[in-house]
Amino acid sequence: GETFLVTAGPTREPFDPVRFITNHSSGKMGYAVAIMARRRGARVILISGPSSLPPPMDVQLVAVSSAREMRDAVMRHLDAATVVVKAAAVADYRPAVQARQKLKKKPGPMAIELERNPDIIAEIGANKNGRIIVGFAMETEDLLENARAKLETKNMDLIVANDLQEAGAGFQNETNVIRIIDREGSIESLPLMSKMEAANRILDRIKCLLMAKT
Ligand code: C5P
Repeated sequence: GETFLVTAGPTREPFDPVRFITNHSSGKMGYAVAIMARRRGARVILISGPSSLPPPMDVQLVAVSSAREMRDAVMRHLDAATVVVKAAAVADYRPAVQARQKLKKKPGPMAIELERNPDIIAEIGANKNGRIIVGFAMETEDLLENARAKLETKNMDLIVANDLQEAGAGFQNETNVIRIIDREGSIESLPLMSKMEAANRILDRIKCLLMAKT
């Protein structure tokens, strides 16, 4: 009876018709959550930035490109969702100006001004409506302190932290090393495992939260 809204993949922030700023996210972690949640019987809406992964079976896939498109798609589907899992690596900034024509090279250096993108999960956290919200934190330093701070400020129920410096963790890999932090501050540290298995461990924790609510 649950409806999962899952976001996955990177966003692309264009500054002219042929170029954009993005990151190394593959979408694998979010797709794994979507696949496993569907296998457990949930209805799943997957809002995905550009990814080369095949669309999961029996999941409603909404393809987006920029952070603003992702925000609009999330807001459109939010009412239906009882659980939100935000695995997407949303670009924090976008180019302030998007040129209509391809930028020409000129002698000397060049700069692109950036402006802030909307923080999608913070917006959802501010208007929770009883929903369970799970975020991700990928860091290269001070992982746990940063993750705890994000859980608080963005009003999440769980945050899944992964450290880019750890072998087998992070972008592109089939595996991950995750820590799941809850609102009490307790940390579940899991060993290296496949992203599918990691998704199942996250879903086990979501299930506990759902059962505690009934
Ligand atoms: O970027 P940050 O480390 O703060 O991301 C933590 C969480 O916030 C992730 O779950 C990510 O999907 C979400 N996020 C978002 N909108 C942004 C930036 C991050 O929803 N603009």
